[in-house]
Amino acid sequence: MEFAKLGNTGLDVSVLGLGTVKFGRDLGVKYPTPFAIPDDRQLLNILNCAADIGINLLDTAPAYGASEQRLGQLLKKTSAPWLVATKVGEIFDPSTGLSSYNYNPEFIRASVENSLKLLGLEQLDIVLLHSNGEDEDIIQNYGGLEFLAELKKEGLIRATGMSTKTVAGGILAASQSDVVMVTHNLDYRDEVAVIDYAEEKGVGVFIKKALSSGNALLGDNQADPVQQSFDCIYQHRGVSSIILGSINPAHIADNAKKAIASYRNSRL
Ligand SMILES: NC(=O)c1ccc[n+]([C@@H]2O[C@H](COP(=O)([O-])OP(=O)(O)OC[C@H]3O[C@@H](n4cnc5c(N)ncnc54)[C@H](OP(=O)(O)O)[C@@H]3O)[C@@H](O)[C@H]2O)c1
Repeated sequence: MEFAKLGNTGLDVSVLGLGTVKFGRDLGVKYPTPFAIPDDRQLLNILNCAADIGINLLDTAPAYGASEQRLGQLLKKTSAPWLVATKVGEIFDPSTGLSSYNYNPEFIRASVENSLKLLGLEQLDIVLLHSNGEDEDIIQNYGGLEFLAELKKEGLIRATGMSTKTVAGGILAASQSDVVMVTHNLDYRDEVAVIDYAEEKGVGVFIKKALSSGNALLGDNQADPVQQSFDCIYQHRGVSSIILGSINPAHIADNAKKAIASYRNSRL
């Protein structure tokens, strides 16, 4: 595995991280092919396979259904030095499959305390505001990042940030926090300005939806879409880790080899 500095946080993250939506939520998701949520035995195998490859970064959220709770149960059965990123602000209702949003300070504190309890941790490594699309409103009118910074001072969080959906919001988030999570893939490259700004400021960058949630793999593309995607991402030196969603150990192993190759090539 290769590890990259997560901006100025002092954390070193594997260049491939594991996204965990499919660990806990199958309603209201936009994957092009149907899937079954893995049972505990399968999930432990996925985590052990990821750990064996050297992946040390897991990305979860309250909005990913049972993901946090399941990680809390299973991570203690593994021996890897995991770094866990989770989020606040989006609430998933499993009875309807719909999300709602809340960025009030009292809610953020309760959500962080609940994530600590579910994950069985005393401190969360990374907490990101989970955007509803109104990035600037959440930062400017709710003070979400300032409140996360207070929780960091209290010792509940090591690094703060935001998973953003707009260029202006991504840049604003990078000016006020430690980490931004942005979308970048073969079909969508609009947020490069955020990656570049974050690099300049010493802010870590996670990439979400690197394979367009699986859509990059559809069609009869002769070239390797995974390698192409990772090459396109790691040409931007501000990127710390590609958070790829998968519940298939063979895919995770293949993705790791390709992420390492793209990362090394970009540093030649
Ligand atoms: N903060 C946010 O707003 C936000 C939004 C979206 C996502 N995220 C985070 O980013 C992560 C990644 O996003 P994503 O899951 O939407 O999309 P993604 O990582 O672009 O794609 C995941 C899909 O690609 C498939 N896949 C992965 N590697 C493959 C391979 N080598 N061959 C064939 N298929 C492969 C996976 O299926 P298999 O399971 O079969 O491998 C899965 O269905 C999420 O899990 C989550 O942690 C955050």
